[in-house]
Amino acid sequence: MGIRPIRATWYGLPRYYDIAFQSETPAEADFLEAAFRRYAAIEVRRVLEPACGSGRLVCELARRGYGVVAFDTCRPALTYLRRRLARRKLMAHVLAADMNRFCLPPVFDAAYNTFDSFRHLLSEEAARGHLRSVADSLRPGGIYVLGFHLLPPDASEHCIERWTERRGQTTVTVTLRVLTTDRRRRIEHIRINLLVRGRHSTRRYFDEFPLRLYTARQFRRLLGQVPHLELCDVFDFWYEIDRPLRLTDELSDAVFILRRR
Ligand SMILES: C[S@@+](CC[C@H](N)C(=O)[O-])C[C@H]1O[C@@H](n2cnc3c(N)ncnc32)[C@H](O)[C@@H]1O
Repeated sequence: MGIRPIRATWYGLPRYYDIAFQSETPAEADFLEAAFRRYAAIEVRRVLEPACGSGRLVCELARRGYGVVAFDTCRPALTYLRRRLARRKLMAHVLAADMNRFCLPPVFDAAYNTFDSFRHLLSEEAARGHLRSVADSLRPGGIYVLGFHLLPPDASEHCIERWTERRGQTTVTVTLRVLTTDRRRRIEHIRINLLVRGRHSTRRYFDEFPLRLYTARQFRRLLGQVPHLELCDVFDFWYEIDRPLRLTDELSDAVFILRRR
């Protein structure tokens, strides 16, 4: 008989989340550093990560010598991150906070938020509040690197992705499926299935959650409401710093470089 999946919060299983995305981390960190050098008008030493999750990028950037402040609402992820920093003898400041609206002193040279975390903000008001809070925490000339999927107007709404990663004795297979897409309300529902194989056991988990939808035009309109941030360039998840792209309806995965005026 198959193993019955247990409902669990995907982000509340930070070790498995971290394993699932481990291959992406070095390329993302390289891209962030390249973007800091190319687009920030100031030297980047101090960085902020809203919605840091398991902190894979927090650890990587701390290891590369940046002063990192990071926050999330998911307590198990924050505990995992603090332990990991301690184990690796790395320094970063980790807080519990909501990215919807937060208030930090304007001391950061850059902020970054990749991989769709931004789409967890389900209303225009929350998204605007987030962008304004980030702008208020950046020094003039600092940048915000914001990555998330756009929904091209003619895109197929049936999407399924599956991948497997391994660390030590643990193998994690993630299946991500779009369950429903409501373009009018701008919400899609995602289901995550997780298959975790350890040395002695196999477990299955699942989670379902909504994400906000954006077309290129909808994001431009939102950005127009946050005059402190200017759009410098846009890339995709190939992270090729020498190949900025045009923000058009064809783009489905977007990494925006926004600069604090
Ligand atoms: C896709 S994960 C990204 C984690 C990390 N940035 C990374 O790239 O690995 C999304 C994260 O957003 C966090 N999150 C969702 N809504 C949030 C909110 N309103 N405020 C802060 N964090 C939030 C979740 O707990 C989760 O850790």
